[in-house]
Formats: sequence, C-alpha cells, structure tokens
Amino acid sequence: RKGNATKEQIRLHSLVQQLPRAIIIGVRKGGTRALLEMLNLHPAVVKASQEIHFFDNDQNYARGIDWYREKMPFSFPHQITIEKSPAYFITEEVPERIFKMNSSIKLLVIVREPTTRAVSDYTQVLEGKERKNKTYHKFEKLAIDANTCEVNTKYKAVRTSIYTKHLERWLKYFPVEQFHIVDGDRLISDPLPELQLVEHFLNLPSRISQYNLYFNATRGFYCLRFNIVFNKCLAGSKGRIHPDVDPAVVAKLRRFFHPFNQKFYQITGRTFNWP
Ligand code: A3P
Repeated sequence: RKGNATKEQIRLHSLVQQLPRAIIIGVRKGGTRALLEMLNLHPAVVKASQEIHFFDNDQNYARGIDWYREKMPFSFPHQITIEKSPAYFITEEVPERIFKMNSSIKLLVIVREPTTRAVSDYTQVLEGKERKNKTYHKFEKLAIDANTCEVNTKYKAVRTSIYTKHLERWLKYFPVEQFHIVDGDRLISDPLPELQLVEHFLNLPSRISQYNLYFNATRGFYCLRFNIVFNKCLAGSKGRIHPDVDPAVVAKLRRFFHPFNQKFYQITGRTFNWP
C-alpha cells in the first residue's frame, strides 16, 4: 500500500552498509576487542562484528571494495561504522591500501606495556598449540636468542611490540593527527576516560557513561551494560592468565623496548608509564 509506509518503515529504508570511517588497526592483544565492543555502546557507532582482514589478506583485497562494503553492518547515515583487524598495524601493504580507500580515515591504535603485550601474544599462541595437543617452547626460549643471549628480534611477539617501527611506516601515508592512541592498560583498569578521549577524537557527542560499564569481580574485568535488560562481558579468551616469566628476561625485554617506547611517546605525544 504505497503512500502508507509507516515512519518506522521509512526509517528502516534509510539503512545502508557504509565503509568504516574509523578502523582499529591494532595492536594485537592490546585490547582491540574490548575497545570495539565498548565503542559500540555509543548510539552513533556501529561495529563490524568479525575481523574482516580485507587490507592485510591479498585474496580478500583482490575481491575489491564492494566485497568489503558488503561485510559491513547496516547503519543509519548519521552513524559511523568501525571495524577492527589487529593484523593491519604490522602488515606492510596495509597503510597504502587504506589510504587509497579513504585518505582522511581515522585510525585507532590500542597499545599495552610492550612486554606484557608480548607475553599475552605468546599466551594466545600457546593456547592454540595446547588445543591441538602440541607442545610449544617456553616464552623465555623464544624471546631470547640462545647464541647471543640478547633479545630475539626475529620473534614475532617481540617485533609486534616495537610500536614505533610500525607506526613510522604508517606515517609515510597519514599525518599523526589522524591517529589516536588508546592506553590499553587503562582501558582495563578504568575504561571510561579512555572511551571519552575516543569519542572526542571521533567528533562524537559524549554518550558512553559509567552506567554502561560495571566491574565484574568474577571476571576481574569491566563488562558492558547496554540497557536495563542487555549486558555482556567479553569472551573467556579475553583476559587469560599469563605464564610466569623469568624476571631477568622481563627486565631484559623492558630494557630492550625502552628506547623504542621513548620514540613512540615523542611521535604520538602520548606518554605512558611503562618501565
Ligand atoms: P589478556 O588475555 O592478555 O589479559 P585483544 O582483544 O586485542 O586480543 O586483547 C585482549 C586483551 O584485552 C586481554 O589480554 C585483556 O587483558 C584486555 N581487555 C581489556 N579490557 C577487557 C575487558 N573489559 N574484558 C576482558 N579483557 C579485556
């Protein structure tokens, strides 16, 4: 019955699949899932639930931008779509590819103290091996080169934590103002202020409040309250118990990361209290 469409029908008719206007590009184990889910508390933010891996996967990238758009959720024109694929941050080809899609896109990077992040990364891989009943090296063996007794920079979990190296590649395409660095350690301990900084960066009115975040003592993490009936915590795979690491190895790694961290603070204008 043409002409008799309800207001709701007209409203739903304006739903579209939009390319992301902001992307959480990493860092793996920085808290990328928590950041995406928490930003989704905002009424103007719509998230791509899955990691799309469009820009880092050559096969996906070859499918073209319409394939990417079709992976996006439906949203209203005033809303912004966000996706997260943590591999983007460390993958060589990605900055240029994202630049070609949208040179003014906003880029979110969530980081944690680099040694903790490396151990978290290791823990995730270890769990994958254990699931397949495979054995795996100890963290110490992977992180330290047996011949030189120095930090093994060939080990991926170490390399990923050299944040400045990766960021510098991105800066060949995007000005530093287009990045916002999120403190992943603070997103764990006190998420609201971190989320408010992101709202500001995305030019969104401040809508996420303390009401939306409650500490769950059983989980040991903040969980999300969308409304009176709907709340959720992140999956159990988020917030794993890390293995104990030899303190001498931790100290060696921290010394190793120190100069890179200084450079990262200098470039981003954001200082962290990393040891
Ligand atoms: P750990 O498992 O090492 O504790 P990512 O989503 O990028 O893989 O990051 C996972 C990390 O997010 C977890 O690392 C966890 O510490 C952190 N995190 C931050 N906020 C969280 C929350 N509210 N609930 C669960 N994990 C959270």
